[in-house]
Amino acid sequence: MSALDLGLGGKAALVTGAASGIGAAIATALARQGVVVCLADRQSCETTLQEIRQDATTYSVNVDLRFEDQVRSMVSQAVEYLGAIDLFINVAGSLATESITRTTLTTWNDILATNVTACAIACRDVSAHMIARGRGGAILVVGSTVTYNPAYAQGAYRVSKTGLKAYMETLAIELAPFGIRVNMLTPGPFPTPLVARLSDEQRWSAAREVPLDQREGRLSEIAPLALALLSDTFSSYVTGVDVPVDGGLHLRPLYLGTIAEVKRLNQ
Ligand SMILES: NC(=O)c1ccc[n+]([C@@H]2O[C@H](COP(=O)([O-])OP(=O)(O)OC[C@H]3O[C@@H](n4cnc5c(N)ncnc54)[C@H](O)[C@@H]3O)[C@@H](O)[C@H]2O)c1
Repeated sequence: MSALDLGLGGKAALVTGAASGIGAAIATALARQGVVVCLADRQSCETTLQEIRQDATTYSVNVDLRFEDQVRSMVSQAVEYLGAIDLFINVAGSLATESITRTTLTTWNDILATNVTACAIACRDVSAHMIARGRGGAILVVGSTVTYNPAYAQGAYRVSKTGLKAYMETLAIELAPFGIRVNMLTPGPFPTPLVARLSDEQRWSAAREVPLDQREGRLSEIAPLALALLSDTFSSYVTGVDVPVDGGLHLRPLYLGTIAEVKRLNQ
C-alpha cells in the first residue's frame, strides 16, 4: 500500500447533490479512487456522469429530497445498483435569502426538508442497511460556516445547517458501536450555483473575511478532505467531528452590509 492509498477502491458510495458543485466534485474524486458511485439529485447528473464514466461504472437516481417516499426509494435503488452502500455522502442543500419579517412558511419548510429532514430519512435507511450488513461504513454530511458566522437573511438556512450538525453528532454516537463513522465537512464560500443568488458585494464581503488569502475556495480544495474523512485508512479514529474547509472563515465575524442596509431588510 502506497502512503497515499486511501483504501477506498472497490467501495460503493451514494452521493446526494451530485449534479453540481461540491457534490459533483466529491463524486468525481471518489470515482477516481476506484469507488463505484451512485449519483443522486433532482437535476440531471449527466455532466457528472460524463466526467466519471471515463474512470468508473456509475449510476444515477433522480430524486426530490423534500419527499420521504423519494428519499426511501433513492436508498433502495442505490442498494440495488451498487449491491451495498459502504459510503453515504449527503451534500444536497438549498439556500434561501429571506429576512426575518419576510420568511414564508413555504421557504422555511423547503429549506428544513431539503437540508435536514431528507438527510435524517436517508441516514435512517442507510444506517439500517449498514448495520444489517455488519461491515461498518462511513457517512459524511455537508454543513456550512453559517453555523459559526450568522449571515443576514439566512435564518432558515442557518437553523437547517446547525440542526444538521446536531443530528450528525447523535448519529455518530449511535452508530459507533457498529463501526460506522459519521462526520461533517463544513464549506466556507465556494463559487457554485448555490451562491449565485447572492450579490457580488455579498460574496466579496464574505470572501474578504477569509483569513487565508481572502478568497472563495476552489472545488479542488474540498474533495481531498472529504476523501480523507471517508477513508478508514486515514480517519479510523475520527467520528462526530465538524471540519471546516473555509480558509479559517469560521473564526471571523461576517459583515454583509451597512446598518442602513440591514434595517431595510425588515422595513
Ligand atoms: N457553495 C458554498 O459557498 C457553500 C457554502 C457552505 C455550504 N455549502 C453547502 O454545500 C452543499 C453543496 O452545495 P453547492 O455549493 O455545491 O451548490 P450546488 O447548487 O452546486 O449543489 C447543490 C445540489 O443540491 C441539489 N438539490 C437541492 N435541493 C434538492 C432537492 N430537494 N432534491 C434533490 N437535490 C437537491 C441541487 O440540484 C444541486 O445539484 C450544500 O449542502 C450547501 O448548503 C455550500
